[in-house]
Formats: sequence, C-alpha cells, structure tokens
Amino acid sequence: MPNDELIDLARDIAVRAGELAHRRRVEGVEIADHKSSPVDVVTLADRETENLIRSLIADARPDDGFLGEEGGAEQGSSGLTWVVDPIDGTVNYLYGIPSWAVSIAVVEGDPDPLTWRALAGCVTNPVTGEIYTATDAGGAFSGNQQLRVVEPVSLAQALIGTGFGYAAEVRREQGRVVAGLLPLVRDIRRFGAASLDLCAVATGRLNGYFESGLKPWDHAAAALIAREAGAVVTGRDGAPADHAFLLAAPRELASTLERALADLAV
Ligand code: IPD
Repeated sequence: MPNDELIDLARDIAVRAGELAHRRRVEGVEIADHKSSPVDVVTLADRETENLIRSLIADARPDDGFLGEEGGAEQGSSGLTWVVDPIDGTVNYLYGIPSWAVSIAVVEGDPDPLTWRALAGCVTNPVTGEIYTATDAGGAFSGNQQLRVVEPVSLAQALIGTGFGYAAEVRREQGRVVAGLLPLVRDIRRFGAASLDLCAVATGRLNGYFESGLKPWDHAAAALIAREAGAVVTGRDGAPADHAFLLAAPRELASTLERALADLAV
C-alpha cells in the first residue's frame, strides 16, 4: 500500500478514535489501573480507544502487526506494524486539560525505534481538532498546511519543551537537568503529551524538545512529523532516538541543545 493510502487510513482511524475518547471524557473518566507507579494511570477510555483502533486496523489491514501502549504487541506477516498510543497525555486527559492526543504510526521493519523506518504518522488533538500528518519524504502537515520548523534560533532565545517519566528516581534526575538548562534558554515548557510536543516543534510552538525514557508509541508518529517539517530528531551522539533519549530541533539548535545537555550529563 502506498504511503498516501496508509496516512489516509491512519487519519480516518485516529479521528474516529479521538471522537470516542472525547465522548468518554465528557461522560466522565474512570481509572482502570495503575502501571509503573501510583501516578501512572490507565483509564477505561485508554483501553476502549486502543481496542477500537486495533479492530479498525485489523479489518483494513489483517496482515499488519500492531504495537499498542495498553495491549502490547501482535506480530503480522506484511513487514508493517502500526504503533499506537490511544491517549497520549493521559494525566491531562484525566484532569480535563485540553492537551492529549491519539497517535498512530505505520513503521516498516521490526517495531524497534533503533531500526524501524516510519512510513506514515498521524497525531490528533481531539479537543482542539488539530490533525498532524506526515509520510516518509512526503512532508508534514497540519490539516492541509505544510509545516516547516522555525529557524535559526539561538539556545538563549529558544523555547524548549520536555517531559517527565513516572518513577520518582527518574524525576529527580529530570528535575536536576531542568534546573541546569533553565538559565540557558528563553524558557521551558512541560505540556504533558510527548506526541504534541514533537508536533509543536514542527509548527514552531516550541523551538526544541527533549526527553529521556519515552516509549515507542509516544514518539513513533510525531518524530516523523517533526523530521518531515525539517527538524533533526536524534538520540544520543547521532544514534536513532529511542527509550534512552530523544531530542528534536532545527539543525543548529539541535547541536547547541545537545551540547548543553551533554554538559549536564544527560
Ligand atoms: C506520557 C506523556 C508525557 C511524557 C511521558 C509519557 P502517556 O505518555 O507523553 O508527556 O512526558 O514520558 O509517558 O503516559 O500520557 O501516554
């Protein structure tokens, strides 16, 4: 299937899934479980939304694999895998903060960020109605508008986004890094949904973004969107972004931000 058809399907499914999650949010959120820590919650809507996405993909593309935040992996035979976060920004969702997303990517190869090739990615914010899409070498878009990162910008003038994990010891370290970086930049934002943070780099709402400890579904779609908008999306020392570290920014800022973070021993 050409990438254009994959992105059309990803967009349709993301929009339907977003409508369901939004409806459930209006009806009232129910916590179903806790994951890595007491503050890392799963809502019934996370599960229901992922189940809807999984079944819509299985109907349309029965031979593809699936990797979802809530239900885990299912191997396919086509070489393509759908990497899905049904609700990215679950804490915002829980509190009614209008900054959460449905994130759907299609990747080729093993569903491992170190080796996969992302073919198509869609991130929607069902509250604002924003729909971000990208295909490999096909550009990044917000609706019909092509996206381009804002450059050049110095580190001292940069608005930088980041995020935090759920475990206390990880947060202690992330707090140390934020304290070291804050005097060097315009300001730091923590919006609460990694996929939307990466899309914000693509639209220029943020100049750069970094985080340690992301899961594949947090960044699979949005890293492609940021990259197709002209950002460098990288892990440590030019390696592909993965669980350990992801940084996204226009080229010049990416190297100064990377150096500043290295000085802080990130
Ligand atoms: C989280 C969000 C958050 C990021 C965390 C992620 P979730 O995903 O993207 O912004 O800082 O690292 O785990 O739990 O809301 O799907």
